[in-house]
Amino acid sequence: MKIVFFAAKPYDNQSFTRLAGAYPQLELEFWEAELSAKTAAYVTDTEAVCAFVSSDVTAPVLEVLHDRGVKLVLMRCAGFNNVDLETATRLGIRVMRVPGYSPEAVAEHAMALALAVGRKLHKAYIKVRENNFSLQGLLGVNFFGKTAGIVGTGKIGAAMAKICHGFGMRVLAYDVYHNPDLPFAEYVELDELLAQSDLISLHCPLTDSTYHMINLQSIQKMKDGVILVNTSRGGLIKTDDLIAGIRENKFFGVGLDVYEEETPNVFENREDEILMHSTTARLLSFPNVIVTSHQGFFTDEALEAIATTTLNNAMAYLKGEKAGTELN
Ligand code: NAI
Repeated sequence: MKIVFFAAKPYDNQSFTRLAGAYPQLELEFWEAELSAKTAAYVTDTEAVCAFVSSDVTAPVLEVLHDRGVKLVLMRCAGFNNVDLETATRLGIRVMRVPGYSPEAVAEHAMALALAVGRKLHKAYIKVRENNFSLQGLLGVNFFGKTAGIVGTGKIGAAMAKICHGFGMRVLAYDVYHNPDLPFAEYVELDELLAQSDLISLHCPLTDSTYHMINLQSIQKMKDGVILVNTSRGGLIKTDDLIAGIRENKFFGVGLDVYEEETPNVFENREDEILMHSTTARLLSFPNVIVTSHQGFFTDEALEAIATTTLNNAMAYLKGEKAGTELN
């Protein structure tokens, strides 16, 4: 079975090709073009396409794919809010995804952000490169003995909670469900977590109830000098309110892997775009803020896990078996 990969980056090509030998039934074809109604029209002799979190898998695109004979959409990611599942089901197109690949990859990145702002590594890096070995402006904080507040203790939040526990932190948790895998964590109400935590790390999904959960009111409830990290979804934080909080010196540091202004081309090189008036640019102007480009998932191990599950999904489809990763 031929699989056309849309929006394929060199690292996709590498991680999938490395495993391809074990799947002789599958022929992998990598296209740089992003999936759209226009590019879908070029698909020929293909039963399966592989798309990403940034791909357009809405009804018009699915209609074109259906006309081209596509029967399977393999999402090489966990999220699927960009897929019109109802239309896919109506057209008889099966959709599968990679539900979890490496929660530790994202959790470790969250801790990397926390440590970087906590020890001002981003400033130290620049200073030393300029031959400036003065410690001025580099005073950091310990995590040992401090309180971590984990919002959302699913797969990634649980991994982060364990890392914080390993650092000798007291771990507070807030979630609608209590994770039995975290006996050391104390589940509290969100307000208590906000008031007591020295490090707050967000790991709940973006839903109507979590949209802008970090806003002026919730920021006011936090300790002065708190470190805030978001590796979940930008919409959890109301950016204008965060900027107001940063300006009032509420935060020791802020580490963001995700932000409200992320666009479908977030993974692209945006050197040529003028971001001067964007809220992301305003965030970047603060010396105690570190922004990364939604790279929490981006480790060798996570890419291998994504490729393995995606190819196993294709095989399950070929054999007419259930993979447990199907969305319809
Ligand atoms: P998960 O589904 O295992 O855990 C989410 C947890 O949030 C669950 O325990 C759920 O009960 C909890 N939750 C739901 N609504 C809540 C609310 N209103 N308040 C508090 N907790 C609530 O998901 P997982 O795999 O841990 O992923 C978490 C998030 O991480 C994803 O939603 C995604 O947005 C983000 N993510 C970021 C990546 C990156 O590269 N930066 C990569 C993968 C995921």
